Amino acid sequence: MKVLILGSGGREHALAWKIRKSQHVDWVGCAPGNGGTTSVAESVDLDISSPEAVVKYVQDNEIGLTVVGPEAPLANGVVDAFPDDQTHLVFGPSAAASRLESSKRWSKEVMASAGVPTAGWRGFTNPYDAIAYVSSRNTACVVKASGLAAGKGVYVCDNADEAAQAVTSIMIDRDHGAAGDEIIVEERLEGTEASLLAVCDGIDHVVLVPARDHKRIGEGDTGPNTGGMGAIAPNPEMTDELVKLCSDTIIAPILTELKADGTPYKGVLYAGIMLTDDGPKVLEYNVRFGDPETQVILPLLNVDLVDLMLLSASEKLGGFLKQIGLESHDWRRIHSAQHCATVVLASQGYPGSYEKGKQISGLPNESENLVVFHAGTKLVDGGVATNGGRVLNVTGLGDSQESALLRAYSAADEIQFEGKIMRRDIGG
Ligand code: AMP
Ligand code: GLY
Repeated sequence: MKVLILGSGGREHALAWKIRKSQHVDWVGCAPGNGGTTSVAESVDLDISSPEAVVKYVQDNEIGLTVVGPEAPLANGVVDAFPDDQTHLVFGPSAAASRLESSKRWSKEVMASAGVPTAGWRGFTNPYDAIAYVSSRNTACVVKASGLAAGKGVYVCDNADEAAQAVTSIMIDRDHGAAGDEIIVEERLEGTEASLLAVCDGIDHVVLVPARDHKRIGEGDTGPNTGGMGAIAPNPEMTDELVKLCSDTIIAPILTELKADGTPYKGVLYAGIMLTDDGPKVLEYNVRFGDPETQVILPLLNVDLVDLMLLSASEKLGGFLKQIGLESHDWRRIHSAQHCATVVLASQGYPGSYEKGKQISGLPNESENLVVFHAGTKLVDGGVATNGGRVLNVTGLGDSQESALLRAYSAADEIQFEGKIMRRDIGG
């Protein structure tokens, strides 16, 4: 079978790397891919923002399975454009179901109907109403652009002044464009974070190893939010009881709710969770694999990823789980007992503006316990150069979290490019 992956980041490199190992697969393409995906996939020149162009490519080239990496093509309806047949399957949710991520307001409304635990919130379309509201409350809160803002539309605020500034940046200065036409202001939750991803077929789901990512740019979780600066799996805070609780109260009710609404959810559902003193609460849903969580989840997965994707796309996951007696929360049965850690090497200036085109040296060879997933890189004259904010995901495996981190950090220290930055406290 031929598999096409849409996207160009570290997540897509990890997907291509894993999918390449599948017994079903004899060709992998990545559109557009990056400097690292070329080692496991053919780079495909395709406008992934055009659903019609994607479907034409898939039909012309007999692609059996298409895997959508980023949220934008999903929100754009790429899945909806696929023919309803069993020969061109696509892994991912419809545009309607993707609103779980592309409209934070809608997502909050669905959570309320489904009874999912989450932070209290209010929605605003007028900046002055929002400023009056945050000023009158004068407490710590979180201000979020409702639309898609590449993980950068969230402002965690200590007080009313910071919140008013966030409202101004989003709604008046329009720092995130139309994504900020509407905002939500949330109660600020305290606790530790967890990312729980589940493969879903519209009704049933199976969770993947719980992960933790580190979203802020600075050590000690300081500075602005980024797409993610590193991750570990398993997340040591996520006991088996907590994973079951999250599977039952955070994943399952959303699937039931969306199915009843006529927008069944297929693909990966990613719950960003805060483990609070009052139990786990949802920070957000994403409608795709996490980046960089995928880079620590897939190396631990010990079943064929393409099998899971085909079961999801063809709505047969539930039957399969029943057949092998696997419960939705029992991730341990489908992963190795190892630990995995990834450290993001980023360009100086990220998540603001940064320079590109810096020569990269010191890239290690892949081994059993080390793999470097490329994100913002490109091939130049036989070498590799930086081509984005997040450049590389240096990923270590080990029998403990410490040994996985040690492997990742020692390789990260050997890799050089001008302006390289990284957090030293991933997993801490
Ligand atoms: P989101 O993109 O909504 O997950 O938000 C990005 C990050 O902002 C999360 O990973 C948290 O670190 C933080 N965050 C979002 N919502 C809240 C909240 N209600 N309380 C505390 N922190 C939050
Ligand atoms: N790591 C956060 C995200 O993928 O949205």
